[in-house]
Amino acid sequence: MSVREIATKPYPDQKSGTAGLRKKVVVFQQPHYLENFLQSIFDVEPSLKGKTLVMGGDGRYHNRTAIQTAIAMAAANGVSKVIVGQGGILSTPASSHLIRQTGAAGGFVFTASHNPAGEDGDFGIKFNIFGGGQAGEALTDRIYAASKAITKYRIIENVDVDLDRRGTQTVDTMTVEVVDCVDEYARLMQSLFDFDRIRDWFKKGHRLSFDAMHAVTGPYAQRLFVEQLGAPASSVINATPLEDFGGGHPDPNLIYAKPLVDLMYAEAAPDLGGASDGDGDRNMILGRGIFISPGDSLAMLAAHLDKLPGYRQGLAGVARSMPTCRALDKVAQGRGLDCYETPTGWKFFANLLDSGRITLCGEESFGTSSNHVREKDGVWAVLAWLNVLAVTGLSVQQIAEAHWKQYGRHYYARHDYDELPVDNANAVMTALTTALPALVGRQFGDWTVSQADSFGYLDPVDGSEARNQGLRVVFGDAARIIVRLSGTGTQGATLRLYLERYETAPDRLGWATGDALAALADIADSLVRISELTGRKAPSVVT
Ligand code: G6P
Ligand code: ZN
Repeated sequence: MSVREIATKPYPDQKSGTAGLRKKVVVFQQPHYLENFLQSIFDVEPSLKGKTLVMGGDGRYHNRTAIQTAIAMAAANGVSKVIVGQGGILSTPASSHLIRQTGAAGGFVFTASHNPAGEDGDFGIKFNIFGGGQAGEALTDRIYAASKAITKYRIIENVDVDLDRRGTQTVDTMTVEVVDCVDEYARLMQSLFDFDRIRDWFKKGHRLSFDAMHAVTGPYAQRLFVEQLGAPASSVINATPLEDFGGGHPDPNLIYAKPLVDLMYAEAAPDLGGASDGDGDRNMILGRGIFISPGDSLAMLAAHLDKLPGYRQGLAGVARSMPTCRALDKVAQGRGLDCYETPTGWKFFANLLDSGRITLCGEESFGTSSNHVREKDGVWAVLAWLNVLAVTGLSVQQIAEAHWKQYGRHYYARHDYDELPVDNANAVMTALTTALPALVGRQFGDWTVSQADSFGYLDPVDGSEARNQGLRVVFGDAARIIVRLSGTGTQGATLRLYLERYETAPDRLGWATGDALAALADIADSLVRISELTGRKAPSVVT
C-alpha cells in the first residue's frame, strides 16, 4: 500500500454551519469533494499525525463510503490509529464520549443530524477535537480557508476495511479498531444514573415509549432501556437504523414525531415518551397527555438533577442558547447558580463545560446535555427523566405543575419559515435591524420593549467574540420575540421566529401554548413583517 498524492481543485462552498459541513448527498458525491474537506482538516491540524482519531456516523446513506475514504486518508496523513464504530455507527454523543475516554486527538462524525437521508437527502461531517467537542469557529474558519486554496490531497488507494468485524485491522502502518457502538456509552450512563431505581420503576408497571425514528439511537435504546433496565421490548419503536431513516424526518418534535405524540395523548399512554433524532443528540420529552418543551425540560432537569448519582455534588452552573426560553434562569436564580446565555450552536457551550463553569446546558432545538460529553445527548435526557420519575415517584405532569407553581411558566413556540429565497430572508433581517433602535420604550399590547438589539457573545473563557447571533426584542421578564437565520439548512434560507411569554399567576399556568402566544404572534407579525416581506402567509413548521 502506498500513499498517493492526488491533484484537486477547490470547491468554494466548504464552510461549516451551526454544526459542521452539511450538504446534499449529491454534493458530497462530486469528485474529490469529501477528500478536499478532509485534507483541509489534516492540513490545518498537523498535530493529528501520530495520534488517534474516532470515526462513526448516524448510518445514513453514504456513511460507509465516506468512512472508508476517511480511513484511507487518515492513514495517508500519518494518523496512527482510528477507532470506528461497528458498521460505521456511532451516535454523536457516543462519539464525543469515545474521543474523551480514549484520549483521541479528535474525531469525524458523519451526520446531517435530523435532515432527511437517502440518495436525495443530506449528508454531513462534523470535526470534533480533543476533549470531544466540536471544532470552534476559529478552527472551522481556518479549515474553510484551507479548502479554498487546496491543490492536492493524500490517500491510500483501494482501502477496504471490514467495518462489521470487531477487533483490530491495519491499513498500511495505521491500526483500525472496530468497536461495539454502545458498550462504552452504556458504561458511562451507568455511572451517572441509578439503574436499580429505574429498574424498580419499570417493575412497578410504569411504562416508557421511546421512538428511535429509524435512526442511530435504536441500538442504544434497545441495550439500555430493554436489556439493562428491563423495559418491555415494545418500549422502543422504530428501533432499526435505516439508510434513509425509513423515508422519515428524524427530528423529535411535535410535527415529525407525531405518532409518538398521538400515543402520549391517547387513553392508554405510557408514563414517559421520548424520541431522538438522526444522530442521537436531540431529545423530545412527553408525559401522559403533556408535552414538555425543551426549555422547560432543561429547567426541570436543572431543578432535579442533584437527586441523581452522577450529579449529587450539585450543579456548577447552567447555560442555555439565547433563543431558548428563560425558564432555566428562574431555577438558576432560585438556587444561586450562574446562568450563561450563549449563541445558538452546541459548540458555544464547550468552553463553559471545559472550564468547569457549568454542569448542564440546553437549547430550544431539542438539545440537552451535561458535562459528561461535549455534545448534546438524546438518550441521556430520557434516562435523566426516567431517573427523576423513579426517585421522586411523581408523574411528568406533577413535576411540570409543581415547577410552574414554584418558578412560573414560560410559554414558548418557534415558527420556522423554510427554504426562503435568500434575498427575502435577508430583507426581513435588515428591516428589523433598522427598526430595532427605535423600539425601546414602545408599548405593544400589555408589554413594553425593554431591550432591542442584535445579540453578541463574549466568551468568558477565551475572550472570543461572536456577533450578529440573532435579533431580539425583549419585553422585560414578560416576553421576548427573537428572529434569526438558521445555520443548518441546506437549501435557501430558513428564518426562525421564537416567541416566549412568562406568567406567574396561578390562574395563568394552564393555558394552551397557542392561545397564550396568540397576542405575541400578532405583535411579531407587525414588527418583523415576515409575511409582508416574504409573501409567506404562515410558517412551514411550528414547534
Ligand atoms: C444543531 C446544533 C444546535 C442548534 C441547532 C439549530 O442541532 O447542534 O446547536 O441549536 O442545530 O441550529 P439552527 O442554526 O438551524 O437554528
Ligand atoms: Zn442531531
